[in-house]
Amino acid sequence: MTDPRIASLERAVHGLRLKTDPADLEHYGRDWTRRWTPAPLAIALPASVAEVQAVVQWANAEGVAVVPSGGRTGLSGGAVAANGELVLSLERMNQVLDFNAVDRTLTVQAGMVLEAVHNAALEQGLIYPVDFAARGSCSIGGNIATNAGGIRVIRYGNTREWIAGLKVVTGAGEVLDLNRALVKNSSGYDFRQLLVGSEGTLGIVVEATLRLTEPPPPANVMLLALPSFEVLMQVFSAFRARLRLEAFEFFTDRALGHVLAHGAQAPFDQVYPFYVVTEYAAGDDAQEAAALAAFEDCMTQGWVLDGVISQSEAQAQQLWRLREGITEAVARYKPYKNDISVRISAMPAFLERTQALLGEAYPDFEVVWFGHIGDGNLHINVLKPDGYGDAEFITACEHVTKLLAQVLSEFEGSISAEHGIGLVKKPYLEGTRSAAEIALMRGVKQVFDPKGLLNPGKLFDA
Ligand code: FAD
Ligand code: MLT
Ligand code: ZN
Repeated sequence: MTDPRIASLERAVHGLRLKTDPADLEHYGRDWTRRWTPAPLAIALPASVAEVQAVVQWANAEGVAVVPSGGRTGLSGGAVAANGELVLSLERMNQVLDFNAVDRTLTVQAGMVLEAVHNAALEQGLIYPVDFAARGSCSIGGNIATNAGGIRVIRYGNTREWIAGLKVVTGAGEVLDLNRALVKNSSGYDFRQLLVGSEGTLGIVVEATLRLTEPPPPANVMLLALPSFEVLMQVFSAFRARLRLEAFEFFTDRALGHVLAHGAQAPFDQVYPFYVVTEYAAGDDAQEAAALAAFEDCMTQGWVLDGVISQSEAQAQQLWRLREGITEAVARYKPYKNDISVRISAMPAFLERTQALLGEAYPDFEVVWFGHIGDGNLHINVLKPDGYGDAEFITACEHVTKLLAQVLSEFEGSISAEHGIGLVKKPYLEGTRSAAEIALMRGVKQVFDPKGLLNPGKLFDA
């Protein structure tokens, strides 16, 4: 029998597209974590700001929880609907609304896929620089809600830097037009930035005005083979001192092994313990010479054992695939993901501590390390061995994450660098944010979403 709330929603928001088939509930009720069993009430697919607002107003009247949903590529369970929530998918709101050449801004609907945003910017001879491997499926609204980072943060910063204005529907059902693309605006609290990274707990992003910038100079991609973790930050410093870096990413031999098993081409004849992919401006002879000099210095020091430089766009993509393909290559092991950050200057000491801790803590599990090392951001993925039960595996991993959270707290780092807290990292929020901060977050939640209906149970419990 159909839930009477669905008929009530249909009456309240005339013409709203809804999905209630079991396959749709399953599809829209989960994200990339695949840890929770999807059980949403229904999927609402509004086509306009007015429809989003009407759905939220209905949810307030009926006391129904709402999960904002983008591309569901999230890695922290933020878009999971496992408790009879209404999923509000922005996927039909995927159009460019405006391009302003003088302001260099692009205004888009929140459901637009990141790659489509990239293409729309390029059509204007500009770029939207936030980028990462989920570009083909994640939405700009989801990127804003998680303050997504990615592979070019070292040069361009996180999503936050590129948000000139936001239109949101708050949990109370009000529409707010925040900052309206002003470059300068010292008129009180900046709610636009508060909404960035709020993980769908305060408001639903319906439109965003994005800053664009000019395309970077021509770049080369270099893959470096390293002998140890210890030299990683030395190599980073050596390259950063000489070059305009666009990216500086690392991964281990184990990570590479999985990508190769997934069909990528081996970069060297030999296996090395660690690798770095770096992209740097190489538009003229001086820059090319600086890159070679950085490489040779590192070879002389024994920090780098081998290297290859892309000779074509196709080769650059092949090298990038070795780094960007890791998430997909390890997905079949349902990895337990740690996404942590410390200050860049603290990274060498933190790496030493963490390596020792994890070496002892995970003797039975394969641990795959990779990440945005130039931003002080590590992804430590623990792979579930065949034959291990899901619950047993997660319990074992969570025990270690507690220890990791303690080390992070000593280093004043973060338990979530770029994926968000969602459900996955909720137990560890207190290691990263003070009790006073969490109390303020709860207060802010109360103001924006008085009935606690937007993404309840994500980030913190009610
Ligand atoms: P979803 O997963 O749908 O949602 C994420 C959160 O945002 C949820 O809490 C949801 O409720 C909320 N939300 C979604 N849309 C809205 C909206 N319109 N208004 C309010 N709240 C909303 N992340 C990085 O930061 N850096 C990376 O390098 C990176 N690489 C990735 C690579 C792969 C292969 C994959 C699968 C994921 C990667 N991610 C990365 C994680 C993920 O892609 C990002 O978190 C992305 O920003 C999520 O966007 P989404 O549209 O899929 O959001
Ligand atoms: C990445 O850097 O590749 C992403 O954050 C995805 C992941 O952590 O798996
Ligand atoms: Zn990442």
